[in-house]
Amino acid sequence: MAQWNMGKIMHGGDYNPDQWRHIPGILDEDMRLMQLARCNLMSVGIFSWSALEPQEGQYDFGWLDEVLDRIAVGGGKVFLATPSGARPAWMSQKYPEVLRVRPDGQRNFHGARHNHCYTSPVYRQKVAQINEKLAQRYADHPALAGWHISNEYGGACWCPRCQEAFRQFLKEKYGDIQTLNHAYWADFWSHAYNDFDQVEASSPYGEHSVDGLTLDWKRFVTHQTVDFMRHEVAAVRKYSDKPATANFMCIYPYDGLDYWKFRDVLDVVSWDLYPMWRGDSNDYAMAARTSFSQDVARSILGKPWLLMESTPSNTNWMEVCKLKRPGMHLLSSLQAVAHGADSVQYFQWRKSRGSAEKHHGAVVDHVGSEHTRVFQDVMQVGQALEKLDSVAGAQVRAQAAVIFDWDNRWAIQAAQGPRKDKQADETVFEHYFALRKCGVNVDVIDSQCDLSGYQLVAAPMLYLLKPGVSENIRKFAQKGGTFVATYLSGVTDENSLCFLGGTPGGGLGEVLGVWSEEIDALYPQDQNAVVFPDGRSYRCGFLCELSHLRTARALAVYGSDFYAGMPALTVNDFGAGQAYYIAARTEQAFLDDFYQKLTLEKQIERPAGNLAPLEEGVFVSQREKGTVKTIFVMNFSAQAKHVALREKSYTDLLSGACVSGAVDLAPWDVRVLQYC
Ligand code: GLA
Ligand code: ZN
Repeated sequence: MAQWNMGKIMHGGDYNPDQWRHIPGILDEDMRLMQLARCNLMSVGIFSWSALEPQEGQYDFGWLDEVLDRIAVGGGKVFLATPSGARPAWMSQKYPEVLRVRPDGQRNFHGARHNHCYTSPVYRQKVAQINEKLAQRYADHPALAGWHISNEYGGACWCPRCQEAFRQFLKEKYGDIQTLNHAYWADFWSHAYNDFDQVEASSPYGEHSVDGLTLDWKRFVTHQTVDFMRHEVAAVRKYSDKPATANFMCIYPYDGLDYWKFRDVLDVVSWDLYPMWRGDSNDYAMAARTSFSQDVARSILGKPWLLMESTPSNTNWMEVCKLKRPGMHLLSSLQAVAHGADSVQYFQWRKSRGSAEKHHGAVVDHVGSEHTRVFQDVMQVGQALEKLDSVAGAQVRAQAAVIFDWDNRWAIQAAQGPRKDKQADETVFEHYFALRKCGVNVDVIDSQCDLSGYQLVAAPMLYLLKPGVSENIRKFAQKGGTFVATYLSGVTDENSLCFLGGTPGGGLGEVLGVWSEEIDALYPQDQNAVVFPDGRSYRCGFLCELSHLRTARALAVYGSDFYAGMPALTVNDFGAGQAYYIAARTEQAFLDDFYQKLTLEKQIERPAGNLAPLEEGVFVSQREKGTVKTIFVMNFSAQAKHVALREKSYTDLLSGACVSGAVDLAPWDVRVLQYC
């Protein structure tokens, strides 16, 4: 695997010089501005296919040669993109099969982007050709830092070729049709198949009531996209061994593709993040959500990742495209670095003049100069990153992890009942947020990850158990780990078939020491309570499981309704470890107090050395390289904060000052403190 190792935190963004080729002097101006902004890594060519191959087989690399040469002269680097995210009109016209087919069987017209079939042999051949040409031409170019494969892979295609590939995928998975029928509980509504040829992709216009099929279709979409990416990378690898990445997306990571399955084809994870900052008290939770996504990004390969896109000011696609308030650009950029990013990149360098993104924030606005607030903010980030070379490549080590699993997300979405929106992502996030408030580093992992390095693992609403997961959890607890589960855990196997013999099933019930008999769904105005023997009480509702103790002890019980007195929080000793079970969705304060107590008891490392929870708005994250530890202290609030620190002496990497004992943060302020 090629390693990403630039020795510094890179800065730059999506650069589309092909849109500006007809304007004389603009390249000179871009180079001048990039130097000023301290931008040293530009992503080039992301949607440039029609500029690179204006007619089938006729190539024009002249403009790209010049761009790369100029960047190299200035000491900069590029992520060279493969252009598969959008295709030229000549291709759609001549080979309609490259276009995507919708779930109703209709083929799309040409246009937009991400509108292609991942299975089409013609599309694959055309992509391989252009990728090879690019790799052959630029493999040894001094500007080349890595390969930006396509752009934000996503979506699916229902064309006959994709359907056939899906059937092939199922044949390989199940071997014979009876095994598939069994996995799909096919006698229900007469859904048994005689042959694989009868199987169609899950679609709202066809089969959408077989959860096993729905799940397999989603797995296939990931499988086919990974396969497509592998095909793209293989073409590049004929000439270049530079690291390859594909930019992934969203605050709640996009659920259309299981990003964990890309592990073998990525050299470095890269991520696009567009938090909806508002400059008010909402930013506290938004910051936590953003760090959640960043912690997923890091956990996928367990090493530094790249922030591939963020906006230097606003977007153009949010309901309300509010500007970043003063201070937020530096704070939010360093938040990514705090959580393991080795770059801060933007969409976009120069704001385009026409089409869909002409009002999207950019480093260089239509006014065209450095005399803008946004450009100055970007310069400030560039100057800050130049002081963080010692952080590049540093790891974020976490003793606590939260499980956030794509198969589980899909299975919960597909399940009808016990209520429509089960808020599974939000629930995982609430547990994560509570842990972050303690000031501990947190990994966000897939359910099949190795748990042995953690002391505390929370698996909220782990409804579906993939093979080996329950065994791993058992081993983890047996060896002394602390495991936390909730209602709707261990309900189905990997195919969404319910476990018989009670839930939590699949062996999880023994770890937790409880069995659940029923689950109640409540209307918003319905409330119950989690009541402790000392009289402490927290609100709960939404989903409340009615469970019985097997070997566990009840720590708290329900306060009302016909299940008053039944367990609401339990703990079970299992081997050298302990397993907690939270029976209902609780108010956030319950989780905050629960994890505060647990992380103290289990002595989970708190980089700032705080014993009390961090104040509202404050976050801490630590990176380490050898014996050098760097802590990032961030204030996502409009109030000044005083944060006490563990070590006697730190160097403030941004100001060079010596800090001891504590820091005082202004509103929306950030400190990067290093000690050894
Ligand atoms: C995505 C895309 C970019 C751009 C931005 C706008 O992240 O990858 O090309 O469209 O959104 O926010
Ligand atoms: Zn297709």
